[in-house]
Amino acid sequence: METPPICNYEGSDYQTSFWEKGGRAYEDACEAIALKRLLPPEGGRLLELGAGAGRNTPRYRGYRQVVLLDYSRTQLEQARQRLGDDGRYWYVAADVYRLPFVPALFDGATMIRTLHHMADARRALDGIRRTLAPDAVFILEFANKKNLKSILRYALRRQSWNPFSPEPVEFAALNFDFHPATVRTWLNLAGFAVQRTLTVSHFRVGLLKKLLPARILAGLDGLLQPTGSLFQLSPSVFVRARALPDKGPQYTGGFFACPDCGKALEDTPPLLRCACGREYPVQDGIYDFRLKQEGA
Ligand SMILES: C[S@@+](CC[C@H](N)C(=O)[O-])C[C@H]1O[C@@H](n2cnc3c(N)ncnc32)[C@H](O)[C@@H]1O
Repeated sequence: METPPICNYEGSDYQTSFWEKGGRAYEDACEAIALKRLLPPEGGRLLELGAGAGRNTPRYRGYRQVVLLDYSRTQLEQARQRLGDDGRYWYVAADVYRLPFVPALFDGATMIRTLHHMADARRALDGIRRTLAPDAVFILEFANKKNLKSILRYALRRQSWNPFSPEPVEFAALNFDFHPATVRTWLNLAGFAVQRTLTVSHFRVGLLKKLLPARILAGLDGLLQPTGSLFQLSPSVFVRARALPDKGPQYTGGFFACPDCGKALEDTPPLLRCACGREYPVQDGIYDFRLKQEGA
């Protein structure tokens, strides 16, 4: 089946240029506060979707196993270098739209700064729900189209798209902002119950970031985050959703499944073979479930 296009980070120095040299200490600290508030500190098996170079992974230290999934192999290589050869971390190169796991495998999942690359976000959320066990927790971050800056720009006629309309806006190729109500609806339809909403990065303004130390600004952001349960005007929104027990599959054993035909796979590195004929290599500790024609 056709899958939506992928925003390709292969070969990107995103972690260094955007985070380490890009003046994003404030945003990183805000996200750390939000994650700490939303994610249970301990747990079993956690799936990190769009893990990138593993910026957030050390924040999941209370989990027995963390599966870092990203379409970009080079991002996963960077993550592996940063995190070291800790057996708790598993690295999987795969497409969010074609997840290579048996149903109901994970007790938890996070998806930070990744939904905004999804041209069919609803489909991605449906697929994520299938990998989650009953009552699993899902922490989702998304870019909010109804943020204060976009509302002001729209009011001053400096922006053509309407921040209040429910559909996503593609403000640059494969970069989407979402209406919070739409994301809530998609989560409900996928079989999640939204439990908590935090608004994050309220002070993402160049001048403020220059004037105040990141730590102070993030502390102030932390005070405002709980207002997310009432209204959402920040550029970034975090939600904690629970997988409703009667709205998804049960775990019946296994770990990996063929993203093509869905059959469970034996974990037999360096090559996982499916009865349908597909083969998936494991190289330097990275399982690779990408389609060859997609550049694998
Ligand atoms: C903006 S980065 C965020 C990385 C990390 N979550 C963070 O916050 O530092 C987005 C990541 O999503 C990954 N990605 C985008 N589309 C994807 C897809 N369809 N399947 C898997 N990963 C995808 C990219 O390769 C990239 O590493």
